[in-house]
Amino acid sequence: MKFFIDTADTDAIRDLIPSGFVDGVTTNPSLIAKSGRDFKEVVQEICAFVDGPVSAEVTALDTKGMIEEGKRVAGWADNVCVKLPLTWAGLEACNALSAQSISTNVTLCFSANQALLAAKAGATFISPFIGRLDDIGEDGCDLIAEIRILYDNYGFDTEILAASIRSLEHMENCALIGADVATAPPNVIRDMANHELTDKGLAAFMADWAQSGQNI
Ligand code: G3P
Repeated sequence: MKFFIDTADTDAIRDLIPSGFVDGVTTNPSLIAKSGRDFKEVVQEICAFVDGPVSAEVTALDTKGMIEEGKRVAGWADNVCVKLPLTWAGLEACNALSAQSISTNVTLCFSANQALLAAKAGATFISPFIGRLDDIGEDGCDLIAEIRILYDNYGFDTEILAASIRSLEHMENCALIGADVATAPPNVIRDMANHELTDKGLAAFMADWAQSGQNI
């Protein structure tokens, strides 16, 4: 399972690099706006120190505009992945860009039918939004499970990139279901290492070690 970092905060991504857990990065217009920085500048900076796909989202809403923006954004660095919304225009743009071997991430997916269309359009990644389905009283992880079955049924190469991940439970469920990738904010990735029994056990080991009077 690959881990992508869902942020445009370059310092937060850099801090995670030594862990070896950064397989890629996802951004969206909201995260870019939150960074307060120039879109191209941020994407190019991230692409320079991350080995792996860096999703950068187009903002045109029509097919032609999305294709034009997608080509432009794809030219910013070799590892840019063009993010497109799951609309009819986004699917057409995905089909066109994929035919030119441009990496694509179709985002804002909320149903298995949408995921099926994205795969048929040649998407490199499909991004189902778990947290936002939970927000409306559904279980977002059920969608990941449905898409896993659907893609395996037909042998689609499109990778399931579980997005809108907000909790450790989301991460665990995505891994158990078999999502290819999970994109999560830095704090969720870091929290995965924590367990209260680890803290308690370590404190006991350190206390006993101090009593032994030894050094390494
Ligand atoms: O990867 C998509 C993500 O940025 C959306 O997360 O928490 O705003 O639903 P959220």
